[in-house]
Amino acid sequence: MPTREEITYFGAGPALLPTDVLQNAAQALLDFNNTGLGIAEHSHRSELATNVINEAKADLATYLDIPTDEYEILFMQGGGSGEFSATVYNLVGAWVTRRKQDLLRQWGTSADEKGLAVEEKLEAELRKAVEEDLKLDYIVTGGWSQKAHAEAVRLLGPERVNLVADARTINGGKFGKIPDEKDWTLSRDPALVYYCDNETVDGVEFPAFPASLAPRADGSGPIVVADMSSNILSRRIPVRNFSIIFFGAQKNLGSTGITVAVIKKSLLPPTTPQPEPALLRKLGLPIGPIVLSYETIAKNNSLYNTLSIFDVYIAGQVLKKLLRTFPDKVDGQQAVAEKKASLIYSALEAHPDVYRIVPDASARSRMNICFRVTKGSDVDASEKAFLKEGTARGLTGLKGHRSVGGIRASNYNSIPLEGAEKLAAFITEFAKA
Ligand SMILES: Cc1ncc(COP(=O)(O)O)c(C=O)c1O
Repeated sequence: MPTREEITYFGAGPALLPTDVLQNAAQALLDFNNTGLGIAEHSHRSELATNVINEAKADLATYLDIPTDEYEILFMQGGGSGEFSATVYNLVGAWVTRRKQDLLRQWGTSADEKGLAVEEKLEAELRKAVEEDLKLDYIVTGGWSQKAHAEAVRLLGPERVNLVADARTINGGKFGKIPDEKDWTLSRDPALVYYCDNETVDGVEFPAFPASLAPRADGSGPIVVADMSSNILSRRIPVRNFSIIFFGAQKNLGSTGITVAVIKKSLLPPTTPQPEPALLRKLGLPIGPIVLSYETIAKNNSLYNTLSIFDVYIAGQVLKKLLRTFPDKVDGQQAVAEKKASLIYSALEAHPDVYRIVPDASARSRMNICFRVTKGSDVDASEKAFLKEGTARGLTGLKGHRSVGGIRASNYNSIPLEGAEKLAAFITEFAKA
């Protein structure tokens, strides 16, 4: 049986966690800070739990330079998939509130003093607005944004969901490229524009923030939502360009069980309270589960219901380690991530007769490196041999996602430079053998 030290695990998530973080966590599970009680046993309502949450939030904000006067950091449950739904419920609600505020402003009526007649007129106008104008925009570049798009269609119906671009249409029916922004069909004033910054299954990553979604000079602009589940903490992000950034913890942040949503405060009360459920019912719009309500989670500092403080603790430990390792914060980690990815891609590119990198060079992910082993006539047998020999060397978790096959090396932050070097060396030796 191999030891932990002998293994470099390239799984796509849950991913490898730093050994010292796990050692601290193991101790914390038995006895947290000499309290005689483990971290998973302490009440989520205790001061100790609040401190764990607040420290993790502060460290995340420091590491990514999130302006905390403008953004709220929420620990949620339900995974990235839960956020596919949460973003729809909450941002459709925010869209209705904005429309309502606009109408009341036009009519010169304050929300408190409106009477029955105004109420009825408001409902009629809002129903019309929902029917004619409500749109949600999705840029589909891989399996995860495809799922998010499908969830929006399920919740709202296809007529309200605009497929801005589908990457398969420009790549022979398969994911692997990002459509040119000039071909995107963005709606006017959509409730959200959604994209997945790094497609874990397909190995496609946006090289930079899409220029056509950038805010205007006065700061206004589209409500941009990004799924950063599999590349968060690995590069600098222009936080102010986003209304919501969400990510499951189980790749670069920590253990499975918590999901983070970073949300612009202007989308929350007092600026943008969610509409009353009665109004949403009248408008025929879905009402989300209370545990997916950003407003509710924000009001309760992520403790509306029982949160796994243990998972927040692990995330906090990972962040503290990153801050200790990289005095220049995420920029330091970004340089390492790029170096590791470049080592692996270069080894693959050196042997085009043996390997085929799946995504186009313009959209290759630094985090999930997807390729086929085309050596010989039998790709399937070559890939099996690659996986078997890799495992024998302690390079594990390399099998591609079941939906696309092939090989996928997930090069998350916890893969040390030596791990990437070992994989690159193996890629070269396998090609030459
Ligand atoms: C980019 C991305 N988004 C969303 C998800 C779904 O996350 P979860 O399994 O936590 O629902 C994943 C899972 O791997 C992912 O990689």
